[in-house]
Amino acid sequence: MHLPLVFFLPLITLCHFPHVVAPSSPSSPRVLTQGSSLLVEKKHHLISSNGLFTAGFYEIGQNAYCFAIWFSQPMLNGNHTLVWMANRNEPVNGKRSRISLSKRGNLILRDVGQRIWATNTQSNSPLQLQLLDSGNLVLTEFENKSYLWQSFSFPTDTILPNQPFTKDTVLISSRSSTNLSSGFYKLYFDNDNVISLLYSSNEVTSVYWPEPYLLTWEAGRSTYNNSRFALLDSKGRFQSSDNLTFITTDYGDALQRRLTLDVDGNIRVYSLNKRSWRVSWQAILTPCTIHGICGPNSLCTYSFESGRSCTCPQGYKSKNHSDLSFGCESTFDLSGHHKKFEFIKLPHVEFYGFDSIYIPSSSLKECKNACLNDSNCKAFQYNFDKDKGTGSFRCYIKTLLFNGYYRGTHHVTYLKLPKNDVLSYNQHVANNVLDCSSSMIQLKRTYEKKSANGSLKFMLWFSIILGVIEVTSFVFFYYITKQPSGTTQTYLAIATGFKRFTYAEIVKASNKFREEIGRGGGGIVYKGILPDNRVVAIKQLHEAIQGEAEFLAEMSTIGWINHKNLIETYGYCIEGKHRILVYEYMENGSLAKNIGGNQLDWQNIFEIAFGVAKGLAYLHEECLEWVLHCDVKPQNILLDASYNPKVADFGLSKLFQQGVKENSLFSRIRGTRGYMAPEWVFNLPITSKVDVYSYGMVVLEMITGRSPTYDQPSDDNEMLEQKRLVSWLNEKVHRASECLTETQITELLNPMITGEYEIGQLNNLLKVALECVEDDKDARPTMSEVVKRLLHLEMEV
Ligand SMILES: *[C@@H]1O[C@H](CO)[C@@H](O)[C@H](O)[C@H]1NC(C)=O
Ligand SMILES: *[C@@H]1O[C@H](CO)[C@@H](O)[C@H](O)[C@H]1NC(C)=O
Ligand SMILES: *[C@@H]1O[C@H](CO)[C@@H](O)[C@H](O)[C@H]1NC(C)=O
Ligand SMILES: *[C@@H]1O[C@H](CO)[C@@H](O)[C@H](O)[C@H]1NC(C)=O
Ligand SMILES: *[C@@H]1O[C@H](CO)[C@@H](O)[C@H](O)[C@H]1NC(C)=O
Ligand SMILES: *[C@@H]1O[C@H](CO)[C@@H](O)[C@H](O)[C@H]1NC(C)=O
Ligand SMILES: *[C@@H]1O[C@H](CO)[C@@H](O)[C@H](O)[C@H]1NC(C)=O
Repeated sequence: MHLPLVFFLPLITLCHFPHVVAPSSPSSPRVLTQGSSLLVEKKHHLISSNGLFTAGFYEIGQNAYCFAIWFSQPMLNGNHTLVWMANRNEPVNGKRSRISLSKRGNLILRDVGQRIWATNTQSNSPLQLQLLDSGNLVLTEFENKSYLWQSFSFPTDTILPNQPFTKDTVLISSRSSTNLSSGFYKLYFDNDNVISLLYSSNEVTSVYWPEPYLLTWEAGRSTYNNSRFALLDSKGRFQSSDNLTFITTDYGDALQRRLTLDVDGNIRVYSLNKRSWRVSWQAILTPCTIHGICGPNSLCTYSFESGRSCTCPQGYKSKNHSDLSFGCESTFDLSGHHKKFEFIKLPHVEFYGFDSIYIPSSSLKECKNACLNDSNCKAFQYNFDKDKGTGSFRCYIKTLLFNGYYRGTHHVTYLKLPKNDVLSYNQHVANNVLDCSSSMIQLKRTYEKKSANGSLKFMLWFSIILGVIEVTSFVFFYYITKQPSGTTQTYLAIATGFKRFTYAEIVKASNKFREEIGRGGGGIVYKGILPDNRVVAIKQLHEAIQGEAEFLAEMSTIGWINHKNLIETYGYCIEGKHRILVYEYMENGSLAKNIGGNQLDWQNIFEIAFGVAKGLAYLHEECLEWVLHCDVKPQNILLDASYNPKVADFGLSKLFQQGVKENSLFSRIRGTRGYMAPEWVFNLPITSKVDVYSYGMVVLEMITGRSPTYDQPSDDNEMLEQKRLVSWLNEKVHRASECLTETQITELLNPMITGEYEIGQLNNLLKVALECVEDDKDARPTMSEVVKRLLHLEMEV
């Protein structure tokens, strides 16, 4: 690499090298004329007149060279960034390889005399090969200055600003970061005029972007314009004839940019920043939805801490440990009598595509039999689909397991395995119940075993912590009169990943942060109105939450979460120091405000308890990633116009953890006094049961109207209001042995609850809530068990 050359460029521009390269010449030509060659040994390069780009032989492996174009300036690690390669699949030797422009106008790459690659052009008029300032390598005809051939028409995995992407061009990813030959991913204009990403291996091909389960218009694309033309301009705006438009995060006159289809199947725009590339846009936020990423029979999981990983399901083993894209292979034989096989249930797992049979409304048994009967069936997916009013179960028989990943709520895959494997799997699962590790906050200190005076210690710790933790009571939302609008828009926002707002848009929507409607541990909440007239709550997070990558990772999780009892997030803003969330606005404010009033009747109370349980159950067990809320309290439960509850502030616990860097005793504790599970205090492992505990406290508070937090800490015992409330209720229920009588209930029921109540329902809800606040986390039910029991109660009435 002739580094110093870059700096001599202005001089070189003035010079001309009209003749064959002299083998001894230390300098490089600026153009290649007919009958002359560039030799691999001589390291002769063509350099653009602005110095930005270099073309020549580039060593891509040991004694393996490609004729390539790269950015002249090396990266910090000393490597160069290639933007184009002539012979990526057939590298040439480091000796006696040459590229020559023939007298007849053909540009030919030879390896020891063997022709490897050629432009297959010919011309009778004089020609020259030159590298333009744009990075385009062109064969120019002198007479009319037209290009007989140009590298811009044959991109490899990268396009540069102002390089047209057309119906005739395709980007193909590299095989891996070290093997630059053609890989599995393609960016191209599909027959329907939509710019798409395709996974294509020997076995399968499938489009994964735009998201295949969306209709074209839902993905914001159009099939209407058949010109099939896209361009990234030098300021960072990308515009395609299918209406895909975006601007990079650093839009404006800049440096250098490139758009690359990366090894992992994602397209990214990079901007050069102090000799390293920074991502300024990327197409896909959830890496596991990229098809083929883990190869066949494999499952993709993603977490921010460890990135993407591929695992083999039970009964399958990795094909090649050093290259996971080979996927997994089965350790058993699928043929044989169907009695040999059984199924294991993989909740939240989907293997996208390749359904050989689809049975619209089927029972689980039918679906199992269909798979057992088919010796090619490897698994089936059995989803509840509530699309068409009533809803039904749908059965998809899979003969090929591809694109496997954990995803949203309704996906369940049953994997067909020999009976022995099923047996050992079930034993294994029994020993490893729900694994929440992906978003669990593991506390590292060891806890001294609880001794006889454990509860004394508990109280001691508790009082200390209560004293230390700042009061974080915040009232979230106030009444408004306006309805949020636009169900189709809402749907679109969810389906296409929600919106990233610019800070300017946020300032405008919030009217310069004029109306503060809440304030708390996480940040300040303002009321705002979007241009489409949706009323929103805009939460500006505290500056402690800085990490951009962490924030984006959390946003990609939150963007997936969609449940009617969880607050809907419309979008976010990340610009400089600003970290902002945009939520739906809730008319009736927080539950905290309503417990004290007399708007709620018993039916409301029950429905709120039920709804919150459903929302939390979804977060714990049915989401893409398991999310612990870690701060369930009445202030975080919001009520809409008809008092339906929605849980707010989920998915942020990790961010807050990130924000607190110092390792002090209390820095890792999250949650709010009064609703905090004992695990926090005793530093026991934090599991989804911490939310169950807080949920139980909230329900007890709703029933009794008594807050587990103290208002005036007049004497020490007041601090233990939470414990006192629980033991007081426990005693009452215990004394009543079976059910509380009407008189006993009147004693404890919140006097503000209006109207009739259902005594059986109340008794049972009370029991469930008391189980939720057991000190021993294993004695508490899971959130989905709570849902089941409440569902039962609801139907009894
Ligand atoms: C630079 O490129 C070589 C191959 O050309 C590769 O082996 C090496 O790992 C790269 N260095 C870094 C830091 O990526
Ligand atoms: C330029 O000239 C060459 C030969 O002189 C001819 O083949 C080619 O079509 C011309 N190109 C244009 C754009 O006129
Ligand atoms: C690069 O990948 C290609 C295609 O999979 C393969 O044929 C080739 O052997 C690989 N080269 C190296 C050096 O691993
Ligand atoms: C189709 O797309 C091209 C390129 O973006 C644009 O110039 C043209 O105006 C579009 N045509 C229509 C009918 O929208
Ligand atoms: C393309 O997008 C623009 C605005 O972004 C919209 O007005 C137009 O209707 C869209 N065209 C199609 C064909 O969807
Ligand atoms: C695994 O993949 C690597 C890299 O592609 C290759 O060099 C190696 O030979 C493969 N091993 C097996 C056992 O196939
Ligand atoms: C499976 O095969 C048996 C007999 O071969 C047949 O009776 C049964 O209907 C089949 N079941 C399904 C679901 O196709």
